[in-house]
This record gives sequence, C-alpha cells and structure tokens, in this order.
Amino acid sequence: PNHSILILPGDGIGPEVMAEVRKVINWFATHRNLSFDVTEDLVGGAAYDAHGKPLSDETMAHAQAVDAVLLGAVGGPKYDDLDFSLKPERGLLRLRKEMDLFANLRPAQCFDALAGFSSLKPEIVSGLDIMIVRELTSGIYFGEPRGIHDDGDGGRVGINTQRYTTEEIRRVARAAFDLARKRDNRVCSMEKANVMESGILWREEVSWVHEHEYPDVALTHMYADAGAMQLVRNPKQFDVIVTDNLFGDLLSDAAAMLTGSLGMLPSASLGAIARNGLPKALYEPVHGSAPDIAGQGKANPIACILSFAMALRYSFDLGAEADLVEGAVEAVLARGLRTADLLGEDGTEPVTTSEMGDAIVAALDAT
Ligand code: NAI
Ligand code: MG
Repeated sequence: PNHSILILPGDGIGPEVMAEVRKVINWFATHRNLSFDVTEDLVGGAAYDAHGKPLSDETMAHAQAVDAVLLGAVGGPKYDDLDFSLKPERGLLRLRKEMDLFANLRPAQCFDALAGFSSLKPEIVSGLDIMIVRELTSGIYFGEPRGIHDDGDGGRVGINTQRYTTEEIRRVARAAFDLARKRDNRVCSMEKANVMESGILWREEVSWVHEHEYPDVALTHMYADAGAMQLVRNPKQFDVIVTDNLFGDLLSDAAAMLTGSLGMLPSASLGAIARNGLPKALYEPVHGSAPDIAGQGKANPIACILSFAMALRYSFDLGAEADLVEGAVEAVLARGLRTADLLGEDGTEPVTTSEMGDAIVAALDAT
C-alpha cells in the first residue's frame, strides 16, 4: 500500500532537520521498496509569509486526508509581534485541534552513548525506554469556567477548572494500553485521586477500560507527585505512563531531562482511529525552531528523524523499520558522532546537520 505523508517543515531549523528526514525516507524507498507518497506544504511563519495565515484551509484539509503529518517546528522572532490569531503557533494548534489529537506520546529513551549526558547517574538511565502518554485536548487547560474576576472583596480571583469526562479518559487510556501491547505490556496511570474528583474518575475509568478491554496488560496506579519522585529515583521501573494534560506536561518535560538534549526528543500526537485502522497522527520533534542556530548547519536532526521512526511504528505498523532507524541512530552515536548540542567542552569537533543525516543513512546502508 502507498503510505501518504504530509511534510510541514515550518520555520527556523524545521526545514534543515526535515531535509535529513527526507534522506531517510528516500533510503526506504530505494532499499526497502517502501513507497511513501510524500507531499510538502507550509505551516507557521512560512505559511504566513506566503498567504497571510499560519495554516491555510487547503493544508488543513490535506492534513486530514493523509496517513501521517510530519512537522518540523514553527515560530521565530520575526513573527513575535503578530496578532495572536496569526502567530505561527496557531498553525500547529489548529492542526492538533481539528485533527482531535488527544494522545500525546513522549518517549524518554536513553541511547547508551549519551548516558553520561543525563542529569542523572548513567546507571539510572542507561537502557531507559519509557513512554509517557499525556492527554492533550482536555483537562485544566481547557475546562470552563475560567477567567480572572474581581472577588467582590477588593481583590481578584483566577479560576481554571479541571474537567474530564468518561469518554475523554477512556480514549486516552485505550491509546496507552494499545501502546503497552506493542512494548512491555505495562501501564502506570498517574493522577491525584487522593485530593481531586477528576482524579477519582480518572482512576475508575482507566480501571474500567483495563478490566473490560485490556485484562492482559498489567495496570498500576500512582499519585502523580509520587510518580514524579519515582521517575527521577528509578525511571526504569516504568514502561507506559498515562496521565492527564497538566500532570503530563510536567512529567514529560521532567522525563525529557533524563535523556539529555532537546535535539534528541521525538513526539507523536494521536487521535481517533480513522480509515484503514490508523489513528490520525502528527509527528514532530519536541524542540522549537531554534532561531539562535538556524541557517548555520548546527541543528541536530535526530529528534526529527526519530519522530519519523515513530510514524513508521504507529501509523504504518512498520515496527521493524522503525527499529532500523533507531538502530542507525544508536550506531552513529556509538561511533562518537555528535552535533554541537551533544558536545561538552572536550574538544571533539561537531558534525553538521547534513553530515549527521548522511551518517545515519550510511548506518542504514550497513544493516
Ligand atoms: P527551541 O526548542 O527552539 O530552542 C531552545 C534551545 O535548544 C536553543 O538554544 C536551541 O538552539 C536549542 N535547540 C533546539 N532544538 C535543537 C536541535 N534540533 N539541535 C540543536 N539545538 C537545538 O525553543 P525556544 O528557543 O524557546 O523557541 C524558539 C522558537 O520556537 C519560538 O518562536 C517558539 O515559539 C518556537 N517553538 C516551537 C515549537 C514547535 O514548533 N512545536 C516548540 C517550542 C518552541
Ligand atoms: Mg511543557
């Protein structure tokens, strides 16, 4: 079958790292006879420059129609003074909202060659491979009522509402259990059922889905504050963690630091299962457009390349091919290749964005 991919390179280093992903896609086309139907379009500041909107209706419709969207990054100082509705980030938010991407997948995977790079001791992180599933479209960032009001007593009050429905919890729980079945078959659900009603419902509904649909997967529950502690104390105890929007925001950023550089971190955002049994999906590196290094060949393309590997695994069910890409990344790192962001002060010469991409393709050749 033809796998359709929409590539949205975006701004800053987005196009630079995406050029290296193209090399990997081309490698699969020529060496594994995998035909990807790839189209490219504009998002963010680049789209604003071209037609005055950070995402056109045509691009939005196209994103809805393909199997997977691969995005670089959006934003930059040039667009900082634009009206809120025209800002580059709005392009990305529109994609997430209209595709209803409710499950945000953030792996924290430690490549052994970079274990020394973690904020933690190497033995705590070496071999680490966990996946945080964060609910992305509901919870306290969206709940009503919200606002800042006079409190009637001469002061003010700021209000946000944590609100989750049964179905919102069940669908993200299913995403987590499905993932666990492709991994180590374990899910840990985190909330604050001790002090929050939404946490009580969260625990009950995750348990319901487990009991009725995924009894084969091991499920544990943890309070999110204890979970944060365990994540730093002994992260390897976890396989898949599922949690709400707010806790997931914090826990996934903390987990990111277990593995080192922003230039290494991929992500996926998944929605409901659409045609051909595939979830709607957007893949993107965690990092932004890095205007401080844009145009200098310094960007690390690995986060974006690993995001493509996630697309292979989760949108196309090509797990073995995803393993190949991750293996190639592991191999070049083991050989000591480093972009500037992965270097300390030890005097090693960094490789450029394109040299890193070429080396990963060469490592694929060697498999
Ligand atoms: P950033 O992630 O772009 O950069 C933070 C720091 O990490 C910078 O020093 C940058 O040089 C470095 N860095 C990031 N990615 C790297 C890579 N692949 N290789 C090597 N070094 C890398 O975050 P920042 O500076 O806060 O934001 C810059 C712009 O990006 C802003 O306009 C922001 O709104 C936007 N942004 C966009 C995101 C997205 O498209 N999803 C996410 C985060 C920020
Ligand atoms: Mg965050």
